[in-house]
Amino acid sequence: MMKKKTTSGKTSAPVQRPRLLVLHGPNLNLLGSREPQHYGMATLEEINRALARRAEAADVHLESFQTNHEGILIERIHIAQQEGVRCIIINPAAWTHTSIALRDALAATKIPFVEVHLSNIHAREAFRQHSCFSDLALGVITGLGQQGYLLALEYLLNLINTD
Ligand code: DQA
Repeated sequence: MMKKKTTSGKTSAPVQRPRLLVLHGPNLNLLGSREPQHYGMATLEEINRALARRAEAADVHLESFQTNHEGILIERIHIAQQEGVRCIIINPAAWTHTSIALRDALAATKIPFVEVHLSNIHAREAFRQHSCFSDLALGVITGLGQQGYLLALEYLLNLINTD
């Protein structure tokens, strides 16, 4: 937490760092060993560490959260609203293609988000080519592997610095 000096030299109330949240859906805890031809070799921990390093350098509070339970992810989004989370990066994984409930949670809280997929969902099975989220997202990054998360973070850092 930073403290800002006023023009009179006095220390004002502490300034909260902007909060970003990274959400990972089901089976992404298995990254590193899960179908590396689609999802690469990086583990979820490695991806989260790279995001945390970049956020730290930008003086932004970033939390990463993974669950295999849909209701838990929905509740995490509700809590994010109470916490004042500014933006979300989400890879909804298989819920991308099925979860109206998760879509509704993002719509209800109105937290701006970027949708990320490690694989190019448009180059895969037909059932993966529809996303319940893309029309609500600020943007979608799909097929750029772990770099997709960092590109999404770069975009959001720029966004929160300019608004
Ligand atoms: C994924 C693509 C989804 O179709 C799949 O169910 C996943 C991961 C991706 O990152 O490429 O679990 O979201």
